[in-house]
Amino acid sequence: MLNNSIHYRAGNLFADEISIEEIAEQVGTPVYIYSLKRMLHNLERIRSAFSVLKPEIHYSAKANANLAVLKTLVQAGAGIDAVSAGEIHKALLAGADTAHIVFAGVGKTRDELRYALEKQIGWINVENVGELESIQELAVLTDRKQVRVALRLNPDIAAPTHRHIATGHGAAKFGLSIQTVRELLRRQDDFPNVSIEGLHIHIGSQLHDTNATRQAVETVLEILHPYPTIRTINIGGGLAVAYSAEEPIPSWDDFGAAVTPLLKDYQVILEPGRSVIADAGLFVISVLYTKEQGGEHLLITDGSMAELIRPALYEAHHMIVPVADYKRDKRLYHVVGPVCESADALGHNIEIQATVTNEKLAVLTAGAYGMVMSSNYNQRLRPPEVVISPDGQSWQVARQRETWADLVSHEQ
Ligand code: LLP
Repeated sequence: MLNNSIHYRAGNLFADEISIEEIAEQVGTPVYIYSLKRMLHNLERIRSAFSVLKPEIHYSAKANANLAVLKTLVQAGAGIDAVSAGEIHKALLAGADTAHIVFAGVGKTRDELRYALEKQIGWINVENVGELESIQELAVLTDRKQVRVALRLNPDIAAPTHRHIATGHGAAKFGLSIQTVRELLRRQDDFPNVSIEGLHIHIGSQLHDTNATRQAVETVLEILHPYPTIRTINIGGGLAVAYSAEEPIPSWDDFGAAVTPLLKDYQVILEPGRSVIADAGLFVISVLYTKEQGGEHLLITDGSMAELIRPALYEAHHMIVPVADYKRDKRLYHVVGPVCESADALGHNIEIQATVTNEKLAVLTAGAYGMVMSSNYNQRLRPPEVVISPDGQSWQVARQRETWADLVSHEQ
């Protein structure tokens, strides 16, 4: 969606002080563009929504792991939520303080755990009994006396979101059941080199109400009641972002207000991903062909599901707007890509001004779970990523467009 940073000036789309047309002309399309100013503004809005709790904010790198994005957030005081050794590696390259990195994930390998221990990563969020046993063993092997962990609780609560991104219901693969968490808390002496200092929940992403989160926090508090020395609660991510004006979502202040009274006496960690970067990002594409077929208007673009898979994978809706708005009459378009799959669409029945070949479009709210989920399907080249500086005045290519050499670099 449009916002203070992503806006029109005299019919031309801008990100802060920079014309999108200018970037697209110089770098080519398809291209991802991120406003670091909007991203930092989002971080501040989250801080203010939870201000009473003074939470530690660990940005969830899975949403967008571009190094320029990570570095900017780290400089603004964010820690990092990492779900693989690769994400830890990038967090360290971005300058994150090891104490403010959390290593989470449902299936950490032994090598990854060893790497995290050797790097003295601040927290490990544990999701399996076997994982806790491995951490104990590896702690002895790597001479670590007190590895700090949080147990990830699966509170068995259905989150109000798309089924693919709900994680807190009982049948989900994520977290430990209430019963297992209680048992591990009773058995803390079996893990002498591990210090259980917190509980972690993340019931889903793009949460459409605050009740499920409040309920999950209440479950955590009840479990922790007999253990007054455990003082940290990590409430995960999930703050929702409006992908269209009609999408009814709670504000971040609503989320803050829902949990603040419950968590006042705890050290709180938040792991926002989408809310930090989604509406700071655009995916800019060009129209290759127009087609009228079966009574439908198609715009065939140089962007596809290989670069932005959310519409194909989740039937996610993104607004698509012209880079230059000539205020022509609007019509309903299917905006599709060149990939050989019927699912390859960036949007269906999108109302856009009558559009012709070579004109550019911007897919909005594409900063999160866009580039990170891209692939080389159909041997397409991953697009470049451009960042606009925090003062909004200048831009640079933060990641180059891939080349044919990249396509074969691991096959030689
Ligand atoms: N913490 C944990 C443990 C998570 O699993 C996630 C996201 C987050 C934090 C960050 O959640 P956020 O603030 O972004 O809602 N690819 C999907 C979203 C997958 C979310 C996975 N976990 C999409 O494009 O909608």
